[in-house]
Amino acid sequence: MRKFFLTALVIMMLIPLAGVFAGAAAEDGAVTIGANIYSFQDNFMNGVIKPELERYAEEIGVEIDIVDSEGQQAKLNDQVDVYITKGVDVLAINLVDPASAMTIIEKAKKAGIPLILFNKEATEAGAMAAYDKVWYVGTNSAESGIIQGEMMVADWKANPDWDKNGDGVVQYVLLKGEPGHPDAEARTIYSVKAFTDAGIAVDELALEADPNWSTTHGNDKMAAWLTASFGKDIELVICNNDGMAFGAINALKAANVKLPLYGVDALTQALQHIADGEMNGTVLNDGVNQARATLDLAKNAAMGKDVTAGTSWVLDTDGTKAVRVPYVAVTPDNYQDF
Ligand code: GAL
Ligand code: CA
Repeated sequence: MRKFFLTALVIMMLIPLAGVFAGAAAEDGAVTIGANIYSFQDNFMNGVIKPELERYAEEIGVEIDIVDSEGQQAKLNDQVDVYITKGVDVLAINLVDPASAMTIIEKAKKAGIPLILFNKEATEAGAMAAYDKVWYVGTNSAESGIIQGEMMVADWKANPDWDKNGDGVVQYVLLKGEPGHPDAEARTIYSVKAFTDAGIAVDELALEADPNWSTTHGNDKMAAWLTASFGKDIELVICNNDGMAFGAINALKAANVKLPLYGVDALTQALQHIADGEMNGTVLNDGVNQARATLDLAKNAAMGKDVTAGTSWVLDTDGTKAVRVPYVAVTPDNYQDF
């Protein structure tokens, strides 16, 4: 009889533990999220997304651990292994290399842990279909380029003096950010396409594609371009993010040159540059809502619920299993609203 009680006692003690190991701890609301940022050096990811992930995690009562992948995919792969060993309930991952999603998806799948990829979309065909518990939270990358392009076309038309050499052609330089990154690729195409769609010819004087969205990079490239043989011909500066735009503004100021200049992200500093007339526009990359959607989906997935249950997020129906937060144009007319 005593043996029976002891066995029963041991079983009773093990039941809740079994729940923990199966990730079912999430059922009582104690969700643990293993997250990363591809690089803490990135203005937007570190300045907008990370603080909101931390703040919103508290608001909705989930535990989140956020590590710095330092721009190294191999480091991120190891960090995911550590999270899996620790037994997190769900992974929220910001890829370093958008072409390496499959490695992470396979790890999550093998461990049976749901996975939310955020801000950097997987570029490998079939990656999202490879696991029923992987989702994406980000934007529609093309939309940022389209909005930026439309702003530039409207301003170009309204300012005939921007066509310095009067040839009717836009001589531009473009800071791309990161080759292979869906945002960088789409912004590069669609911002320029807005001109050609409007019947305005373009001439690309220079394009810089280094894998770095940074201010230092923007400064160095812009400074070099201004002293290049085509330096005096530049009529427009297109930046695929605000971080690089800030650097380009510094270089322009140092050279005492004023050129129309556009960014993407709508960081606080960009709003200030617009107020100061040093930037002509940017596009709100809504990191706050991307962070919230990431955590809402992560929490639901960890609790075994429909990922959008009880939220206003809507999943794409095209097989990408994505929540896409809209971009918004930010101009000298409306920047005060942001
Ligand atoms: C983009 C953002 C860039 C940079 C990049 C990193 O969405 O506009 O500033 O943060 O993500 O992947
Ligand atoms: Ca021209």
